[in-house]
Amino acid sequence: MPNAGITGWGKCLPPAVLSNNDIATFLDTSDEWITTRTGIKERRIAHCSLTDMAVVAGKRALACAGIEGKDLDLIVMGTTTHDEQCPNQASGVQRRIPGAEGCGAMDVNTACTSFLYGLSTASAMIKTGAIKNALVIGGELISPFMDWNDRNVAVLFGDGCAAVVLQATDNDEGVQMERLGCYGESRGILQIHGMGGNYVHADRLIGVTEWQFEGQEIFKKAVSGMSMASEDVLRRAGKTAADVDICVPHQANLRIIEFVAKKAGIPMEKVYVSVERYGNMSAATVPVALCEAIEDGRVKPGSQLLMPAFGGGLTFCAHLVKWGNRSTPLGKSDAELAPQTRSALEIVQHYRKAKGHAVAYI
Ligand SMILES: CC(C)(COP(=O)(O)OP(=O)(O)OC[C@H]1O[C@@H](n2cnc3c(N)ncnc32)[C@H](O)[C@@H]1OP(=O)(O)O)[C@@H](O)C(=O)NCCC(=O)NCCS
Repeated sequence: MPNAGITGWGKCLPPAVLSNNDIATFLDTSDEWITTRTGIKERRIAHCSLTDMAVVAGKRALACAGIEGKDLDLIVMGTTTHDEQCPNQASGVQRRIPGAEGCGAMDVNTACTSFLYGLSTASAMIKTGAIKNALVIGGELISPFMDWNDRNVAVLFGDGCAAVVLQATDNDEGVQMERLGCYGESRGILQIHGMGGNYVHADRLIGVTEWQFEGQEIFKKAVSGMSMASEDVLRRAGKTAADVDICVPHQANLRIIEFVAKKAGIPMEKVYVSVERYGNMSAATVPVALCEAIEDGRVKPGSQLLMPAFGGGLTFCAHLVKWGNRSTPLGKSDAELAPQTRSALEIVQHYRKAKGHAVAYI
């Protein structure tokens, strides 16, 4: 049975930065509160569509792997914030990657764990021989769906995207063990009202969102789900925390990451943290952090990676991944986003003004 090695990686972060102090100009909050409770200092706000970001990240990952769109058998797009529900997000990405026409294109939505659930899906298909090459993307454009009047959630999230290329190989690498789970009974503690069929013909403008969000309950479930899944994959793989070279967790809150690392017995020096710069980018957090850990030289040939995550649902998971023999890109793409003309604060103020009115948001 072949394995599914990660041979390419690429990220796309929108350039506009929204600082804690920017948010404090329109919400009753402070840099001090946000930093001490979450570790977040700033986040990115997109001036473009999710498809735009996914296409740039995807092209960069393909160039890094040294393959082209025509080599792809499947594109998996992990996201909760699709540009549109039908047609799906992955088909929009496929259409804009030269040569990719005709390959499979599917979306996976498990909220913040969507990238890792997508990684499992594509890896399993490679291992069965159904496909050989896949592009797995994790991306979110959360800012248009944010309730920018709710300080409980508005300070936590940001926009971003990253992608990896998976390729069939006989080498001992790729996803070695995974644990996928969900506390379905707790799905009501993180809900975005105003997105989805429940709101159609319900005297409500779809897209006008309110977040049902029980922060402390999510916190507890996040720690228990990620810790349990991490212990489970290590045990089933016959490994211990000492075998982990680097942990790349979902980045929602620094305190959650610290709790999970402590429970799993992994010292913080081995944990990659980027939440201070991007906040919670949902499905994009793990692949963006993975790209940056590689760029920083922290993922080496043969490294043992642990990637735990949680998200709405409440889904949780952990993946044990063995890195292949290359941590340097084979090539570089010149794909870029269109230039940004407005500041992050201007974009957010536009959303605040537009809320409840039928106007285009970009
Ligand atoms: C949301 C979270 C940061 C809140 O931290 P906390 O330490 O649990 O804070 P609490 O819920 O106890 O809130 C304390 C107070 O701060 C207030 N508060 C909430 N948001 C605030 C903000 N942005 N600025 C200032 N005060 C705020 C609350 O209203 C509350 O005030 P009260 O005591 O007068 O009622 C934390 O629970 C968390 O990160 N949870 C996980 C959420 C998450 O990761 N979700 C993503 C899922 S993928």
